[in-house]
Amino acid sequence: MSNTQLPPSPEGYPVIGHTIDFGDDPFGFVDRATTECGDVYCMELPGTDVYVLAGAEYLEQALVTDVDAFGKTDDFNRVFGNGVLSTEGEQWSRQRGILQPLFHPERVSGYADDMVAATQRRLATWEDGERLDIESEMQDLTIEILFATLFGRDLAPGEGDDLRDASDGLNKWFVPTSWLLPHWIPTPSRHKFSNSESRLRVEIRRLLAEYEYADKSGTVTLADQVGQSASDGQSGGSESETLLSKLSEAAEATGDEHLNPEEIEDQMLTMIFAGYETTASAIAFALYSLATEPDVRAAFHEELDTVLDGRPPTRDDVSRLDLTNRIVTETLRLYPPIHTIPRQTTREVDVGRYHLPPDEQVHLSVISVHRDEQYYDAPLEFRPDRWTDGFQEELDDHAFIPFGGGRRTCIGREFARLEATLALATIGQRFDLEWTGDETDIAIEPEMTTKTQNGLPMAVRER
Ligand code: HEM
Repeated sequence: MSNTQLPPSPEGYPVIGHTIDFGDDPFGFVDRATTECGDVYCMELPGTDVYVLAGAEYLEQALVTDVDAFGKTDDFNRVFGNGVLSTEGEQWSRQRGILQPLFHPERVSGYADDMVAATQRRLATWEDGERLDIESEMQDLTIEILFATLFGRDLAPGEGDDLRDASDGLNKWFVPTSWLLPHWIPTPSRHKFSNSESRLRVEIRRLLAEYEYADKSGTVTLADQVGQSASDGQSGGSESETLLSKLSEAAEATGDEHLNPEEIEDQMLTMIFAGYETTASAIAFALYSLATEPDVRAAFHEELDTVLDGRPPTRDDVSRLDLTNRIVTETLRLYPPIHTIPRQTTREVDVGRYHLPPDEQVHLSVISVHRDEQYYDAPLEFRPDRWTDGFQEELDDHAFIPFGGGRRTCIGREFARLEATLALATIGQRFDLEWTGDETDIAIEPEMTTKTQNGLPMAVRER
């Protein structure tokens, strides 16, 4: 260790430090903090300090070059048990090895028709001229897609609301007022979290039991049901395989690839948390940006009309929807669904000219890097056209990291990008969305996933 100086703190209040500033406006706070202190600073919260790294080079250090000095926080384990998002070392690498092939781009692209079909089912509930909270609609949509594709499960009307409500609660652990307090303090958010976790675990166990019963009875397996419903045009996974069926198969295998039932349950819970609100956030903010940027919207509609010519999008169309892809990329930059990646120092470590002690909480501020004018001209403007002419190839590797980086990079990124592109294309082909909120400056919730405080109200008009 060559440095002894701890990172500076932006101006704050005595005792409560930066709790109110961050809680009221998390994006505004990180912007002010980097202006006052630079790319490494200390956020003071009651009872704890959180060191924030806000420069691309420091994110690279934490995720790649010095990755062993920045471990996962205990919260992940407490919340997701032994799911792949929280485990470390040998256990993580074994789990990642089993799961990775299930998220191979080729396999993921087999989910395309189910993603489009689920979006069409949701659009069938929209009426011309109706006002909707698009953030909430996209949360319903992504939970429906996740249950259909990964678990082979069609949600009955109303059932999705219950599961969504339970899934919403998972994020409540990560509200700063809860997140950073000792885990035994019973805050209201934690209470909601515990209820949600129990409800989701009951549902997951039911799905697992259903799968095992059907499999062992030698009659109809869940995979068969899935295959059949897919051919009926209903829902359900690629080539009769769902994450659930593949994991259950892996559980029966011996040797290194053995997964026990508790681990399977933890993996399923992890996928719901990691895959639902994140993708909903990406699609909802893309629609918000389109609703408030008429020129981009007109070009987007033109692309859909030209490429799709009135038929529903398929997986083969995705690479030809150039602007739609860039809209997804620009949304992931300006509104990264995970705006902060949490870590904990495992030992003393120097970051730039500062010193971080061991066992300290660290936030990797994705939002700060994505809005840094060092990398992006007019960073607060929504400009899908910046992603042309080899811009991404020239960009610093860690200046665009919506899916994290290094060995812990998001396993579901192909899934999420495919889902976002197809959902946007399916929606944009049929509807024009008009922003009906009072102001375009939206307030963000201080949770780990980027969500608004008041929803995203829009009028939906048939095209
Ligand atoms: C736009 C949507 C998404 C975004 C922005 C996103 C973002 C991220 C980020 C930033 C990480 C790294 C977390 C860390 O290093 O601590 C991550 C990890 C992960 N994501 Fe995603 N994610 C998205 C969608 C999905 C989907 C759809 C799934 C699965 C269906 C998924 C499953 C996972 C898993 C399992 C991990 C943990 C990987 C590991 O530690 O080995 N994500 N995601």
